[in-house]
Amino acid sequence: MSNRVTEMLGCNYPIVQGAMGIISNPEMVAAVSNAGGFGLLATAFADNVDIIRDQVRATQKRTDKPFGGNLFMMNPLSDRFARLLAGEGVKAVTLSGGSPKVLIPLLHELGIKALVVVPTAKVAVSAEAHGADAIVAEGSESGGIQGYQGASTMVLTPAVVDAVKVPVIAAGGIGDSRGYKAALALGAEGVQVGTRFIASLECIAHATYKDLIVQSSETGTDLLDRGRLRIRALHTPLVEKLIHGQLAEDRVFDEKAMEASWLNGDAEAGVLPAGQICGLIHNVLSVREIIEEMKS
Ligand SMILES: Cc1cc2nc3c(=O)[nH]c(=O)nc-3n(C[C@H](O)[C@H](O)[C@H](O)COP(=O)(O)O)c2cc1C
Repeated sequence: MSNRVTEMLGCNYPIVQGAMGIISNPEMVAAVSNAGGFGLLATAFADNVDIIRDQVRATQKRTDKPFGGNLFMMNPLSDRFARLLAGEGVKAVTLSGGSPKVLIPLLHELGIKALVVVPTAKVAVSAEAHGADAIVAEGSESGGIQGYQGASTMVLTPAVVDAVKVPVIAAGGIGDSRGYKAALALGAEGVQVGTRFIASLECIAHATYKDLIVQSSETGTDLLDRGRLRIRALHTPLVEKLIHGQLAEDRVFDEKAMEASWLNGDAEAGVLPAGQICGLIHNVLSVREIIEEMKS
């Protein structure tokens, strides 16, 4: 399939693997690009450029297909990551977690396409005015961090499609061919998929995290308040305690907690972000199997 998104990203199918913090590992990113999608490395929690350089090179060892990165505006090193990614040959990034106003001109100067992740049509219009090359419309059923005013993907996607001229990529609640086709029917020219790829063989996430996604129903996630943001995560006993104010928040959101829970499978140490699509994920598959089914 060829459209404005595949042409912009240089992939076969307009299926983007959403950046997922420390579990956007090179093996998964490369597997997505090798299967015809577009993998994304994450930089949200990185505190130096060397880590990102290593990840880019580890990905390049595994694929000669294009892949991208994500720049998280709350990370003060984002402009340095942008320069590093450009130097390593990356041609497209998503921008999330804040205003893209400052970074878009830099990215364009560096020859990188800017795909801006938005929670509302209003923010999409503003991002387009600042020069966004594409919009990722992220609905409230999605896993991970989101804004406060979220509408569902079903409503947000056509609202954004109507509001902007650049291509729109729908994110949130997409995990199989039905979701992919539905997104295209809503006017999106591509999809960004997160949670489904956690439950893949190539994702570095711990088996416990993957199993909890597979076991969870469509009602098995909660939206947790976190200052000006919200996080959708699996409903675990730890989240139950958080909701009832029985835990010190900072302990379960810091980097140590993230590593202990996401990578080492200790669900009592930290929250496990995931979207409502969990209810439709019944197995751990290879990235290629996921993409082949999705585009079928
Ligand atoms: C564990 C996890 C970590 C995430 N980290 C990031 C991130 O670092 N940057 C970002 O832009 N989005 C992040 N997201 C959002 C995803 O890229 C994607 O947009 C979202 O998962 C799509 O919804 P879905 O989970 O229903 O597929 C994360 C999502 C999850 C589940």
